[in-house]
Amino acid sequence: MLKVGIDIGGTKIAGGVVDEDGHIIEKLRVDTPEDTRALADAVIDMTRHFSAGHDIAAVGVAAAGFIDRDQATVIHAPNIAWRNEPLKATLEARIDVPVVIENDANAAGWAEFRFGAGQGVGHMVMLTMGTGVGGAVVLDGKLFRGGHGIAGELGHTRFIRDGLPCGCGQNGCLEQYASGRALQRAANEIADSGGIGEALAELRADKGTISGPAVSRLVLAGDPGAIEALRRVATALGEACGGFQAVLDPELFVIGGGVAQLGEDLLTPVRMAYETSLPGYGDRPVAAFAIAQLINDAGLIGAADLAVAQG
Ligand code: BGC
Ligand code: NA
Ligand code: ZN
Repeated sequence: MLKVGIDIGGTKIAGGVVDEDGHIIEKLRVDTPEDTRALADAVIDMTRHFSAGHDIAAVGVAAAGFIDRDQATVIHAPNIAWRNEPLKATLEARIDVPVVIENDANAAGWAEFRFGAGQGVGHMVMLTMGTGVGGAVVLDGKLFRGGHGIAGELGHTRFIRDGLPCGCGQNGCLEQYASGRALQRAANEIADSGGIGEALAELRADKGTISGPAVSRLVLAGDPGAIEALRRVATALGEACGGFQAVLDPELFVIGGGVAQLGEDLLTPVRMAYETSLPGYGDRPVAAFAIAQLINDAGLIGAADLAVAQG
């Protein structure tokens, strides 16, 4: 049985035809349009294209927001203009394949659990470090959805009291300290401080801004300012994972999103902060940490795998 998975990201929409083993048969990528109408059009165009060439049983759409229990509505999206957006109804009105809406990090986490870094593990937590911080919780081999469908919003757990304002309406959320944007913010602060921030300041003067990938390149080149910026966000993420361990006791944390392309340079400071903030450290078993394996395809593969065919 073939299903379509579509991952709506901040800059790109990635779609693919996926088989039961999580393999992508055909894939498309387009820029994410600004307004929500054009966005629905783009998803529909993609689905029609795939349906023309394949027998599609269902469509799974991954979106960066809080999805309701019926997997039909985007209730709230901290970094997008969606508020109670009836995405499933909008799409199903125009295509005759059943549509399921899924949280983007849940989709990515599910894909890693089924086909990537989390294979063979029973209890897994995924964190994605991108524009926001996404979370997915797999317990006993099942995606944990909570009472209203919105469980696993790990990026919106309070990390700092009276901290930075967050798109969710709260303040001090982990997302403000451990996302790709937080990495950019840290890099700017270090650039302002002189000293080790020299290379970052030069980069900013040259390009007008400090992008996430540019910070990553400087990290790989061994720049002390960029490494310090990474250490700050990695420490925030690791400390938060100590708390998640207390609640969920996973065997494995999988880290994905753009920042995760730094691999061990990211995981080493994450692990260090995690271990030192773990209740009962030294006496208790600790979780392993791994970088996501399916990278940019995780969201679409997971969304397809979680989509349910009718009948
Ligand atoms: C949203 C999540 C999403 C994550 C990653 C967060 O701000 O609340 O729903 O999974 O960003 O896109
Ligand atoms: Na989630
Ligand atoms: Zn928040």
